[in-house]
Amino acid sequence: MLYPMKLIQLLLASLFVVSFNSCGENTENAENNEETADGNQETVAEDMSVLDEHTLSNYFDVKTTHLHLDIAVSFEEKKIKGSVTHTLENVNGVNEVIFDTKALNILGVTTDGGNPANYEMGEYDELLGTPLKVEITPETKTVEIEYETTEGTEALDWLMPAQTAGKQQPFMYTQGQSIFTRSWIPVQGTPAIRITYSARVQVPTSLMAVMSASNPVQKNETGIYSFDMPQPIPCYLLALAVGDLEFAPIDYRTGVYTEPSMLEDCAYELADMGKMVSAAEKLYGKYLWDRYDVIVLPPSFPFGGMENPRLTFATPTIIAGDRSLVALIAHELAHSWSGNLVTNSTWNDFWLNEGFTVYFERRIMESLYGKDYTDMLALLGYQDLMRTMSEEEPAMQSLKLNLINKHPDDAMSDVAYEKGYFFLRLLEQVAGRDNFDAFLKAYFDEHKFQTITTEEFVEYLNTNLIQPHNLTVNVDEWVYGEGVPENCPKVVSTRFNAVEASIEQFYQSGSVESIQASDWTTHEWLHFIRHLKDNTTPSQMAMLDEKFHLTQSGNSEIAAIWFEKSINFGYDSIDKELEAFLIKVGRRKFLMPLYTALAATPEGKEKALAIYAKARSNYHYVSFNSIDQLLGYQP
Ligand code: BES
Ligand code: ZN
Repeated sequence: MLYPMKLIQLLLASLFVVSFNSCGENTENAENNEETADGNQETVAEDMSVLDEHTLSNYFDVKTTHLHLDIAVSFEEKKIKGSVTHTLENVNGVNEVIFDTKALNILGVTTDGGNPANYEMGEYDELLGTPLKVEITPETKTVEIEYETTEGTEALDWLMPAQTAGKQQPFMYTQGQSIFTRSWIPVQGTPAIRITYSARVQVPTSLMAVMSASNPVQKNETGIYSFDMPQPIPCYLLALAVGDLEFAPIDYRTGVYTEPSMLEDCAYELADMGKMVSAAEKLYGKYLWDRYDVIVLPPSFPFGGMENPRLTFATPTIIAGDRSLVALIAHELAHSWSGNLVTNSTWNDFWLNEGFTVYFERRIMESLYGKDYTDMLALLGYQDLMRTMSEEEPAMQSLKLNLINKHPDDAMSDVAYEKGYFFLRLLEQVAGRDNFDAFLKAYFDEHKFQTITTEEFVEYLNTNLIQPHNLTVNVDEWVYGEGVPENCPKVVSTRFNAVEASIEQFYQSGSVESIQASDWTTHEWLHFIRHLKDNTTPSQMAMLDEKFHLTQSGNSEIAAIWFEKSINFGYDSIDKELEAFLIKVGRRKFLMPLYTALAATPEGKEKALAIYAKARSNYHYVSFNSIDQLLGYQP
């Protein structure tokens, strides 16, 4: 099914392309480029392959360059209410600007500071929402929209005090990626354009507000907070969190926000953040976002981390007590280059965000913690990739995707992350590390504050790495093909080899005494549990549990894989802890495999539904929407 709206849009855009090209100018056409505040070139979509299928807006004709939010956050009504002012650049001198909205009430629209405007809501599309069409003239400078959010919002998570660490105050956070920003702000919901933003946010005086922008370090008695994001960003990176927050600095430009009762533990866990930023800069160039802070959210947060610029949003499940899960911070930090500085043009190019980020993340980890440590991370990633490839349909196995009529969140698989990583690791291998690093550094620098498609990247790769160094690489097979190509780099980990020997001994001797695990790190444990054999019995699981207390593990990664295997092997001494985990934690990456494992048998499915009935209200839309589908649950 093609959306009628979309068809018209594509048609209009193709007319635009034809007339544009008939001027005989090349794709670097000056009319279509503009200087951003930072003096960088930004290009509006000018050929069909760049058009974003996940917006109903006419961003290729007229686009927002700056957005100002003036909103109040009401916990009584579970509502954000206020106005957004869009500063426009009318590239094609059109008479209408279209914004994306989803589940928003539009209360009024004016232009240029108060002139009532004609506007209408277009046809609702289940995936993309409802376009808001506003009449303008080519001279219109700003459009102001009064609006409020509704219960149907997909971006916002409203938490009761009981769902927080402190249990006294409510909490709210937003999740914009991939196409959720339109359900808390009317925007042109595409990564293809970049905007600067400012905001004035009113919250209850007992709470503090923070955004992906310049942030306060203390509460103030008015409950009014002002924000500024002077670097242009795609709108999926607009983010807000409101709660009983405190701040602790880590070094001069890094720090952590979280609820008071968690602050000390979080600051301990994230102590290496400053070193990570320095290591990242040394690899691929200066950090261009001023500060780098992290907010550790309540456990309902549906992701491990979200790279909101200047302020990564993170799950509390990385606070393991031993700093063993901080690769996630390296990952979100790396997005400050891959993703936030150089952004995928459309969600079909998602691997350009995530594959590059995993590569960069592992280089940061290698420079801080060494090669052995990083090889373990890469090998766990390879295992994830193999599992995903065996489950994913062929069309979703290529790096470049075609997500028309699909939710871009479906692209969030290990294909983008790990196949992307191994492709870049292959390029490093054939070009040599020094050449590859110089290439990547230049890539970030030359594309900063811009968006890029897969096709543009491939061309850049050919011109700047492959041809100059006379390399032979099967780029098309990696980028457009299914599966994992033959020449995927092989990772060897001596530490994992030792773990595998322990596993063999355990099954052969039937005794846990042969397992030499006293110096195992989290990653060795993950490798061990992942490699338990399919015919492991409940009594073997019980032996392992008795010696190593895995059911009680305070490490979320270890607990999650241990629970999954326990379900598979019918070891049900985990039931109490499993239920508690599923009720507390809303991170989709953990929930999906656990509910899937439970749902594999009729009794398990019953158990899953019983737990889900208690747990669902603790999950963000991103998670409950996925699990509703998985369990066939009708809310
Ligand atoms: N940007 C992603 C999260 C995301 C992807 C949100 C797609 C919505 C749609 C983030 O950087 C990420 O990849 N998070 C991972 C952690 C990482 C260490 C692989 C996660 O949340 O598990
Ligand atoms: Zn990521």
